[in-house]
Amino acid sequence: MESLISVFVVAHLLGLSAILGGWLANRLGAEGGLSALVWGARAQFVIGLILVGLNEAAREELNYAKIAVKAAVGLTVVILAEIANLWVKRGRSASVLVNMVAGLTIVNVAVAVGWLTAT
Ligand code: HEM
Repeated sequence: MESLISVFVVAHLLGLSAILGGWLANRLGAEGGLSALVWGARAQFVIGLILVGLNEAAREELNYAKIAVKAAVGLTVVILAEIANLWVKRGRSASVLVNMVAGLTIVNVAVAVGWLTAT
């Protein structure tokens, strides 16, 4: 179970990279940046839920107040990324939303590193 959790933690860190890498690429005008950001946000949310389940199954203690904050911020990130995607498809600039996604992603990293305990 430990190694399975590690695999998903790696995936969770890759999801984080996709969001912030997608944000940077988007800001630099690269095509495909927004797509990486949107898929990263979706993956991050799903992988996060899987990590909760795996930690539960392994009887690791999770701080559910902190998980709730992470889930709320993570869901907001997904919703903002989806709206940004729609706006861009309709020819509207979504820079504000894309920046908000990056900011909230960093907030969730801070919550994870500072608050989350799975020991
Ligand atoms: C933008 C969204 C998110 C970001 C940027 C993010 C980021 C992170 C980071 C950096 C870690 C620390 C990895 C480590 O050092 O071990 C982590 C761990 C974790 N995250 Fe997330 N996360 C996000 C969303 C979520 C969501 C939505 C959930 C579930 C509701 C979640 C649940 C967890 C759990 C349970 C761990 C601990 C894994 C372990 O140590 O066993 N995350 N997250």
